[in-house]
Amino acid sequence: MIDSLASRFRRARLHHGHGATDAETEAFWLVAWALKLDFATLDATLEQPVSAAALRRMGTIAEERIATRTPLAYLLGEAWLGPWRFHVDRRVIVPRSFIAPMLMAQMAPWIKRPGSVKRALDLCTGSGCLAIVAAHAFPDAQVDAVDLSGHALQVARRNVKAHVLEERVALHKGNLFAPLAAKRYELIVTNPPYVKATAMARLPAEYRAEPAMALAGGKDGLDLVARIFAQASRHLTPKGLLVMETGHQRAAVERRWPRLPLTWADVADGGIVCLISRDALEAFSVG
Ligand SMILES: C[S@@+](CC[C@H](N)C(=O)[O-])C[C@H]1O[C@@H](n2cnc3c(N)ncnc32)[C@H](O)[C@@H]1O
Repeated sequence: MIDSLASRFRRARLHHGHGATDAETEAFWLVAWALKLDFATLDATLEQPVSAAALRRMGTIAEERIATRTPLAYLLGEAWLGPWRFHVDRRVIVPRSFIAPMLMAQMAPWIKRPGSVKRALDLCTGSGCLAIVAAHAFPDAQVDAVDLSGHALQVARRNVKAHVLEERVALHKGNLFAPLAAKRYELIVTNPPYVKATAMARLPAEYRAEPAMALAGGKDGLDLVARIFAQASRHLTPKGLLVMETGHQRAAVERRWPRLPLTWADVADGGIVCLISRDALEAFSVG
């Protein structure tokens, strides 16, 4: 089933970038969903009989995926980051941030001392996915999450509830840091919109199903990135750290802030997520 769905997806020249990186992974995901398998235990449960109803469910979704180019996550109403499931629909972009594996796989220096993060912030939270993964990664932390979209926050609220994190993840509606007054955090994670205007105009159909305000970052894509660099130090504790995803914009970021001492995390092909301390941000007073 996985092979035959993957061949259909390949023949249809779908774009894979919304929770699956290629046709096989997407086919695997659809099969798992139709058979009601848990991703975390997939290996152990693959050898079960397949009902006619499950086959029909798979076929219907595959046809719709190909005919409409809608991301599979919207058709299934779910997306996964590692072992964590999130509800998603068209009010939010499909979770796929490279910050999630960093939080989960202990790839960043601060995660070696999980107890050191007591307050974390997820700016531009969308479905709430990074705030929720941060709350799982730092069991002692209180997490604030901000988004400008009321629709996105409705989805985030549903996810926070499903993960039973209402006590530790607080959602705020507003423009970047505006709803947070003078609060400070040991860790700020953010996956802001960063697609530049010319790229927005050429996006594959799958991306056009997502809210434009989750993707569009102004003419050069760096409008929100610039505001976050300029304002983050006021919301970080002395040893605090900003972790920001800027997608394929590394060269543009380095051109615009050539002296800013950014560390680029070793995820994906290396230039997707940058880290910088409060001290470094203050020293270079980016604006
Ligand atoms: C790339 S999405 C990231 C969503 C989520 N963090 C993730 O990784 O899947 C960016 C989010 O930023 C929100 N956003 C756009 N402009 C904003 C602003 N000025 N202040 C706060 N949030 C904003 C959008 O509504 C969207 O949910």
